[in-house]
Order: sequence, then structure tokens, then C-alpha cells
Amino acid sequence: MKIARYTAYGGPETIRLEEAPVPVPGPGDVLVRVRAAPVTAGDVRMRSGLVPRGLGLMVRLAIGVLRPRVAPGWAFAGEVAAVGAGITRFAPGQRVFGLTGFKGGAHRDYLVIGEDGPILPLPDTLTFEAGAAFFFGGLTAAEFLIDRAKVRPGERVLVAGATGAVGGAAVQIARHLGARVAATASPANHALARRLGASEVSDYRDGPPAGPFEVIVDVMGQLGWQGARPLLAEGGRLVLITADLAAMLGSALRPRRDGRQMITGTNKDDLPSMLRLVGLHQEGAYTPVVGQVLPFADLAEAHRIAETFHKPGNLVVVMDQTSA
Ligand SMILES: NC(=O)c1ccc[n+]([C@@H]2O[C@H](COP(=O)([O-])OP(=O)(O)OC[C@H]3O[C@@H](n4cnc5c(N)ncnc54)[C@H](OP(=O)(O)O)[C@@H]3O)[C@@H](O)[C@H]2O)c1
Repeated sequence: MKIARYTAYGGPETIRLEEAPVPVPGPGDVLVRVRAAPVTAGDVRMRSGLVPRGLGLMVRLAIGVLRPRVAPGWAFAGEVAAVGAGITRFAPGQRVFGLTGFKGGAHRDYLVIGEDGPILPLPDTLTFEAGAAFFFGGLTAAEFLIDRAKVRPGERVLVAGATGAVGGAAVQIARHLGARVAATASPANHALARRLGASEVSDYRDGPPAGPFEVIVDVMGQLGWQGARPLLAEGGRLVLITADLAAMLGSALRPRRDGRQMITGTNKDDLPSMLRLVGLHQEGAYTPVVGQVLPFADLAEAHRIAETFHKPGNLVVVMDQTSA
């Protein structure tokens, strides 16, 4: 089978596709034939080591000082190829999706994952591509909007950067929570933003739309506290999805300022969070946007597209259907 590997921190050319034996599932393990996997902003950051200001040292201490010691690929959708001894919840042929998470390892033809790990049956309503795209932005948007910003019906929410993986999920989930959603996006993505549920759409290059907003989701951290503060209503919450070290420390030490709140951090990727997102999908509240789909052989090209931070929705690579 083919597996992807990072050889150094650097550009997409540091990715190698190598041959490896198909693993054998041990007791309690499931062997998944991967059909599709997303290439996310997280993958780009792991590969390049390029993270928001002040976080570089911390990231390198966590994933490797000289080169990324994580395997490429954060999530997957596919089907069960074989199961180890003692498996009761999954059977060969079953469609599944899940996370390899921080340690990675989804950018390969087959992977092994524990039955009790972050793997779930893939709903019939999702293709392999949509299953691959499902968790990355969705988990982030759900946690920040529902648990952290606690969006309420009737509130006005601005999603700045509304059509990528996180923004596309945030618009849908904010709408589901009963908010009126304003979105900023490049003109080419305005129709998509409206389709996802935004009632007002503008180009972020023209500046943010007029406030007040109860919640602002600043996907790329371009507004920051200074830019967002004048747009926030009394009691408003700024969600900085991309935050540098100073903003993270600031929001931890002084989350409430002038009757408003700044929220930063990272989202959980555990089974309860995954199950909640599946529930939101089943209620009709969230379906991931599948943007470009490329063959696994073009993984480096997929990284080139993802690292522009202008992709519509989620970028997915599909594994070779004839290689098994
Ligand atoms: N805190 C967390 O736990 C967490 C979790 C996931 C991701 N993230 C971070 O969130 C960010 C977005 O991830 P993603 O997967 O959604 O990326 P993505 O799919 O590449 O989407 C990026 C979005 O940002 C917009 N954008 C680009 N430049 C902008 C600018 N100058 N002003 C306003 N909007 C701009 C793009 O709009 P157009 O395409 O219309 O130009 C697009 O909608 C990344 O920095 C990622 O590392 C954080």
C-alpha cells in the first residue's frame, strides 16, 4: 500500500509517498481501507511548521524539533477491510469514518485503529468524500459556537471567512442555532456563503460589515480584538479561531473586557464531540462542503491548494480504488 510521510518541515515537496506492507489488525483493532481523507489547515501547519506567531516553539516541542514526527493525515472515511480478535462493533465491508487525530496517519491506503477509538459508522447520507470532510471544521464550529460562545436564537453572528472548512460549518451551525448570519468571503464564494445560510454576504477586502454583532467568528484572526471590539454588542463574544500566543494568553488571563468576551483555544476531537456532530448532521443542521477532490497521488498538489487558505469548503484526496 501507499503511505505518505513528511521528510522535513517545509513546502509540499517534503511529502513522500512510499510503499509499505498492509498492516494486520491485532486484537481489538479494525483495519480500514481508506477511501478518502481531507487535506486540512492542520495538515498544512504540521507539514510546514508555520503556525500563528509565538506558537512555533511549542508546536515543535510537541511534534518534532527538526522534522514533523507525526504522520500525514488527520481524518478518514473508508470501509472495514478486516477486524482483529474480539471485535463486535464493526464488520468487514462496513462503511466507517473517523480521526487519526494529532498523531496523524490517515494519508495511506490502509490504517489500523482500535475499535474503541475515534471511529464511527458512516451515515448513508454521506459519501466517502463528505465523510472525509466531515469532522475537521465541523467539530471546531460546533464546540466554539455551542459550548463556548453559546449562540442563542435571534442573535446576529458574523462569520469572517465563511466558506472554508471551519467557516462553512460555522455558518450552518449558527443558522441552526437560530442566529441571523452575516458572512465575509471572496466574491467567488458569495453564492456558497448564501447557500450555507448567510443572509448578508460581503467581501472581507472591503472591511467588515457594520455591527453590532452578538458573536463574531474570526476564522483567520484577521480582525483580532482591535478590529472586532467596535463591532461587538454589549455582552458580545469574539471567537478567534486562529489566534497567536499573545491573543491566547490575553483571552486566558482577561477573557472579559468592557462587558464583552474573547474566546480562543483548540477544540476537542473525542467520541462524544464526534457523535454530537453526527447528530447535528442527522437533524439537517450540518453537511460538510466538499470542494476540490484530487487523487491521493496528487497529495503534494492538494497541500499547495490548502496552504493558500482560500479553498472553498474542504479539500479531499481519494485513494486508488483499484490498488487493493
Ligand atoms: N482553534 C482551533 O481549534 C482550530 C481548528 C481548526 C482550524 N483552525 C485554524 O482556522 C483557520 C481556518 O481553517 P480552515 O480549515 O477553515 O481553512 P480554509 O478552509 O483554508 O478556509 C480559510 C477561510 O479564510 C478565509 N480568508 C482567507 N484570508 C482571509 C482574510 N484575509 N480575511 C478574512 N478571511 C480570509 C477564506 O476565504 P476565501 O476563500 O473566500 O478567500 C476561507 O473562507 C486556520 O488558521 C486553522 O489553522 C483552528
